[in-house]
Amino acid sequence: MLEIFLTIFLGFILLVLFYSFWGRRRRNGEPPLIKGWIPFLGKALEFRENSQQFLTQLQKEHGDFFTVLIAGRYITFIMNPLLYPSVIKHGKQLDFHKFSDSAASRTFGYTPMSSGHFPGMSDRIQRTYTLLQGPALDSLTHSMMANLQHVLRHHFLFTENSGLWEKAELYEFCKSVMFQSTFNTLYGHLSYLHLDELREDFEKFDNFFPLLMARVPICFLGNTKAIREKLQRFFYPQRMAEWKSPCDFIQDRMSIFQQYDALQDRDKAAHHFAMLWASVGNTIPAAFWCLYHLMSCPEALAAVREEIMNVIGEKNMRSILQEDIVITRQQLEQMVYLESSVNESLRLSSVSMNIRMVQEDFCLRLDAQNSIGLRKDDIIALYPQSTHLDPEIYDEPQRFQFDRFVEDGKEKTDFYKCGQKVRYYRMPFGSGATQCPGRFFALNELKQFVCVTLLMCEMQLMDNQHEVSLDNSRAGLGIMPPANPIPFRFRKTLGGTEREE
Ligand code: HEM
Repeated sequence: MLEIFLTIFLGFILLVLFYSFWGRRRRNGEPPLIKGWIPFLGKALEFRENSQQFLTQLQKEHGDFFTVLIAGRYITFIMNPLLYPSVIKHGKQLDFHKFSDSAASRTFGYTPMSSGHFPGMSDRIQRTYTLLQGPALDSLTHSMMANLQHVLRHHFLFTENSGLWEKAELYEFCKSVMFQSTFNTLYGHLSYLHLDELREDFEKFDNFFPLLMARVPICFLGNTKAIREKLQRFFYPQRMAEWKSPCDFIQDRMSIFQQYDALQDRDKAAHHFAMLWASVGNTIPAAFWCLYHLMSCPEALAAVREEIMNVIGEKNMRSILQEDIVITRQQLEQMVYLESSVNESLRLSSVSMNIRMVQEDFCLRLDAQNSIGLRKDDIIALYPQSTHLDPEIYDEPQRFQFDRFVEDGKEKTDFYKCGQKVRYYRMPFGSGATQCPGRFFALNELKQFVCVTLLMCEMQLMDNQHEVSLDNSRAGLGIMPPANPIPFRFRKTLGGTEREE
């Protein structure tokens, strides 16, 4: 026994020595290299523990750019937003799609689109994204509005006795309302669809999502593979063919998949499942933060509530508990305080990392003073959370300030660092050509969710509860969920207005 232990221990020491002497070394012109002493893992554990703190510390020690070994990948972080434009405009040498195709296909279980079996499919899919924006957004907004009201009425506000408070947990409430409303808006309806079970499986899968993205093989993650297969089966073409009125975006994707004989039903289903994840994985925690911050800040809640009422008018306010009302995209655009509150919630909770894969060895000019050497297959990453929490750009960056993005009754877009205007000051949806194609729909959904909830329910956080904290395990992957339960109480409003106690 002792012999085995000694052999393993010596083997590990030899590996560490080999790695320190013969592993990667910094070349002339390359950014500072931080690789830690654990082969392959490098600094993965420190990054996972608290990425913002870890990267800010490295920035203090090494400056605005440096390369870190994280779980087998050399990632060059660019920490100063004034240097972002040079990365964002280098689309050819710094590619996003190859990285996302390989990460998404491995995570959701479909054959990579770059495998050569599906010529033109990736471009055709990219073109369908126009159906999440522009004129197509009108019908999505219309449908989402009806679905939100339906879910709230049938799942939460069905009791006759409207004066009674009911208790619930805030994240659970947001998950329940947003999952079903978004699913029905995108994929359509059918009475036998068991969305509660789908959501349960989705959440089980989602818990392992960070590990899958970190390239941990799915066979090491308990029953995650079986859950993923069950989720995929939900989207098999013969089942989806029966769903009523899926949106144009999903219909277009179905018909594209249909035209590729090489694409198995399992692959088609896995693509639909991936889109389900993209459409709710971040929107649900974002919905939580919007409501949580408003409920925690009476001044913000009053201002947003008043704005909603002014825009939609008294008649709509009175009838919303009895019948569906319509709030158009144009009306949502008029709600500047609501939009600012949503953007402020995203600023505080977003940890999306913008990733590009280096296509060839080359020298990237960052600005007049700085250039860095990059190696093929390395990753370059922008880490917007450091911008979102930069006290030079945002005064008291940790504080929720609902009107931070409003100036003279319009959206405020001027933010400065070192006396220079920052172009990329808020990036929850990524940047440049690869920005999230669902961002307009997502912002609309979040605004609708707040409008409908505030019009239909009075809501209060329970007294004496722990302050909410953020779940750091999703560093780099989108919107952080809350780490602890947040109990609250709600009851029906009196036709859109709160009752006087
Ligand atoms: C608050 C909600 C959301 C956030 C914070 C968010 C964030 C992001 C981010 C950061 C990316 C990667 C972009 C990049 O690295 O440059 C992305 C990609 C994507 N998002 Fe979103 N997203 C949200 C909602 C949605 C919704 C509602 C949909 C669809 C209905 C959607 C569909 C997609 C798709 C399809 C991609 C991949 C695009 C590609 O591979 O070209 N997202 N999202």
